[in-house]
Amino acid sequence: MLLAIETSCDETSVALVHNGRVLSNVVSSQVRLHAEYGGVVPELAVRAHLRNLPTVAREALVQAAVTSQELTAVAATQGPGLPSALMAGFTAAQAMAFALNTAFLPVHHHEAHLYSPWITSDCLSFQIDAIEPNVSLIVSGGHTLLVHVLGSGQHRVLGGTLDDAAGECFDKTARLIGLPYPGGSVMDLLAEDGDPRAIPFPRSLMDSHNDDFSFSGLKTAVRYYLEKNPAVSEPKFRSNLCASIRAAIVEVLVTKTMRAAQRLGVGCVTASGGVTANRALRRELASACARNGMRIRLTPLPLCTDNAAIVGLLAEQKLRAGAPSDSYASEVRPGWELE
Ligand code: KG4
Ligand code: ZN
Repeated sequence: MLLAIETSCDETSVALVHNGRVLSNVVSSQVRLHAEYGGVVPELAVRAHLRNLPTVAREALVQAAVTSQELTAVAATQGPGLPSALMAGFTAAQAMAFALNTAFLPVHHHEAHLYSPWITSDCLSFQIDAIEPNVSLIVSGGHTLLVHVLGSGQHRVLGGTLDDAAGECFDKTARLIGLPYPGGSVMDLLAEDGDPRAIPFPRSLMDSHNDDFSFSGLKTAVRYYLEKNPAVSEPKFRSNLCASIRAAIVEVLVTKTMRAAQRLGVGCVTASGGVTANRALRRELASACARNGMRIRLTPLPLCTDNAAIVGLLAEQKLRAGAPSDSYASEVRPGWELE
């Protein structure tokens, strides 16, 4: 019986996991706390984690109908992420493991996202044994990575963003339009009523011969466009703008993911992270895979944004594979690379 804690950014989350199944997954989001600043304020985030952790952990235990005495392992996100935020959850998890005399497993946040597409769509079981070689897109507020996955625990980073992450681009351009923070999901919703071809925003690095991304040029292009066309409150204009920005981000993500998959000869494409909740990205990746005869696995919607269930399922898998489980004195790794 494993309890997992995730506090790498602005979600305080605790999950209970047993035999590849999620028994509970409680997420307390701090979005409202950071909204007025238009981004995560680390000092506020860590205070909120410390305040919320006991309640979130208790709720996770209650929902799973498990007592702390039944725990045999505790896991937590070790990095990457905001240093102080990571420290709050990681230290709590270590203390808990020490006090309860259980195993303790540190988990890489991106690795947790990377394998989350292998969780079934009902979010109930982890099909890690079904894993096949794939190209995996990890897209969140902090990161955009393209990864070649050969099997469970065997992966190689192909490329990443040279500047802003895809989610960051959604959030920053949404802010320019005046949408509430974090703007990604609001922009996605408004874009559904717009014309994606209305404004031809740039697709940076789409035709480059590497697996890297760049989104800061798009943000600048949107800023210039709004200076010349300030009518953002007009509904049709706003939805066309949202649809055009979304199309520029999604087209680059899908094109480069598919190109890498074809080059590497894999039969499967996967995607995870907060931006994988994007409706257009899910649709476009699925149809590109169908056109190319590839299988597609997208992380189930409720597990795209940060949560402890993806951390717990991976930790349990690592425990089974014989990973060291006594890192009681290890420290957080805020800049930890995936490889
Ligand atoms: O994985 P996540 O919870 O946190 C990080 O590890 O960064 O991702 C959060 C990001 C935010 O930038 C948010 O705007 C974006 O995911 N996001 C979306 C959508 N839902 C969440 N972006 C585009 N469309 C969405 N539907
Ligand atoms: Zn994340």
